[in-house]
Amino acid sequence: MPLIDGNAIARQILQEIKSRVAALAPIVPHIAVVRVGDDPASISYVTKKQKTAAEVGMKSTLYLFPETVSKGELLACLDTLNADSAVHGILVQAPLPAHLPETEIFNRISPDKDVDGFTSTNIGRLVQELPGAFAACTPAGIVELLRRSGAATAGKHAVIVGRSLIVGKPAALLLLAKGTDATVTVCHSRTHDLGAITRSADILIAAIGRPRFITADMVKDGAVVIDVGINRIPDATKKTGYRLVGDVDFDAVAAKASLITPVPGGVGPMTVAMLMKNTLASCELSVRD
Ligand code: GUN
Repeated sequence: MPLIDGNAIARQILQEIKSRVAALAPIVPHIAVVRVGDDPASISYVTKKQKTAAEVGMKSTLYLFPETVSKGELLACLDTLNADSAVHGILVQAPLPAHLPETEIFNRISPDKDVDGFTSTNIGRLVQELPGAFAACTPAGIVELLRRSGAATAGKHAVIVGRSLIVGKPAALLLLAKGTDATVTVCHSRTHDLGAITRSADILIAAIGRPRFITADMVKDGAVVIDVGINRIPDATKKTGYRLVGDVDFDAVAAKASLITPVPGGVGPMTVAMLMKNTLASCELSVRD
């Protein structure tokens, strides 16, 4: 059961990014991070993104809004950031409160600063396989993990469970793209006989958001298993009162898998590394213009 060590792979990528950031001096790549409300998971992800930015020599600025912020205020903030040539990347941490239309807000971000890859333009660029597309960070991190762990993708059956804008859909596009060349199936909550499909996966990507949903009977012997889930479950033995588990029933599935990502320490660190990579790319492009 060889583990894919997302922390080690992310560290290696961040080292590469750090040297490229240093080479841009005196220009400093700058990412603007917008957070709405006080969702504990969002606070933790945003803190991690800002801390990592600082580690690689980038600047980050947090724009913090209360849960009650109006759509207009948020869009005005994005307009200001779009117009600021010293800002190279903009991200709005999801999920947003229910009264805010997520897609409309993501789409207000200039496609050339959309380092999360959530705008219609960047999704379209991904479909068209244009070289300048910003790919969503979690799927980009998954493909990079597969590449750097030597997992073959060409002609392999990649099954993605989950169809979100943030993971499932862009993961399907990246795995399908020329150069990666997987045969892709996307499953979701309405899929019939899910187990029959997941059992045919050479590469199984779990992005459902339900703790330990993928059980050993759903996995083929020798499959490569990528667990995108980060679920908090109550644990009285922890100081915080919770612990993190993935969407995969790790111990039982690990016994069958040829490669598997742990939670934490698998996909999570790669998402942050890819965000830094996209921000750096945006800054490098703006310098060249
Ligand atoms: N929420 C969960 N994952 C992500 C992500 O990659 N980017 C943003 N902006 N929000 C998220």
